[in-house]
Amino acid sequence: MNANYDPRITPWQIREQDFPQEGSSAEKLEFLLRYAILAPSGHNSQPWKFSVRKDEIQVFADEMRWLRVGDPEQVNLHIAIGCALENLLIAAEHFGYGHQVTYCPRPNQKELVATVKFIPQGQPSPFREPALFRAILNRHTNRKAYEKRLIPKRDLNRIQDCCVEEGIRLHVIDDLDTKRNVNELLIRGHATLIADPAFRRENAYWLGQGLFNIPRLLTRLIQLVIPYLKVNRAVFAVMDTRLVMSAPTLAVLTASVNDRVSQVQVGQVFERVCLTATMLGLCVHPLSGAVDVPELKAQVAKLLPDSDVISQHVFRLGYAEPVKSPAQRRPVGEVLV
Ligand SMILES: Cc1cc2nc3c(=O)[nH]c(=O)nc-3n(C[C@H](O)[C@H](O)[C@H](O)COP(=O)(O)O)c2cc1C
Repeated sequence: MNANYDPRITPWQIREQDFPQEGSSAEKLEFLLRYAILAPSGHNSQPWKFSVRKDEIQVFADEMRWLRVGDPEQVNLHIAIGCALENLLIAAEHFGYGHQVTYCPRPNQKELVATVKFIPQGQPSPFREPALFRAILNRHTNRKAYEKRLIPKRDLNRIQDCCVEEGIRLHVIDDLDTKRNVNELLIRGHATLIADPAFRRENAYWLGQGLFNIPRLLTRLIQLVIPYLKVNRAVFAVMDTRLVMSAPTLAVLTASVNDRVSQVQVGQVFERVCLTATMLGLCVHPLSGAVDVPELKAQVAKLLPDSDVISQHVFRLGYAEPVKSPAQRRPVGEVLV
């Protein structure tokens, strides 16, 4: 790794003019990966690996970075890979490439999640507006309490338009009763998860990997304390309620089936939502505590008009002070195989 590489700063400072116009096809595709790795991922686990061929990138799940306790079915892992894939496609279109994605191309090699073939001088997709590209460098998870300000209908429509994949739907929740119900499930989810010592140990480990932008010493202290912490349900009730009820809008991404392809596509839609929101001056914060617990996941779906869907991802949308320091990223060199 370059001695000057600062994981919180360098990855977010990509200079578009550094794209190697005169370089080989592989060098150009490798440049696109700088954008892919800025995608969000549960606990900032960055559970992806890439292999660059002449005109193709293979996208792999990195099972060493899988949260086995918190995400036993690898749903969040595949949503994160979908986010990275979407950034890759948006960057490819920006630099003039068309692309063909094949999901899960080899059923006997389950870590190979997708292959993307790149075609020079391709046509951009109608639903990936060019401005999304710039938003990649400005998108950050915002965990602050949100302002009361409502999101204008036209902006919510633009968020809704991000959802083009078949079987994937975005449900917007802005009525008080449903928000309270989601909040209640989230509180129960967090209480269930944190009661498990293995979950607490896993959390402590990932916290040490730079999940939140908190000083190193404080991170170390939290890491030491978390495994022994018996957190009372009331603590989550206060923290979650403040975040959920401050947000003007909650959203749930659902799928009609629960397979790998749809999980990756939920991630792709989520990343387009995040980038569109960033463009519109909106903040996004995933809240996966309820959907990470199987019984509660089904109950989240029951709150929605089509209750026979699978609720895969819950997040809040709203306005807040911008995030000051971005989350860290591993350099591209570390995610290449
Ligand atoms: C599938 C998924 C689930 C997530 N769940 C949560 C969550 O429950 N709570 C939370 O605060 N952040 C959650 N996040 C956000 C990540 O923690 C965040 O993306 C990561 O720390 C990197 O920070 P960044 O998004 O600001 O780049 C989730 C992200 C993804 C993609």
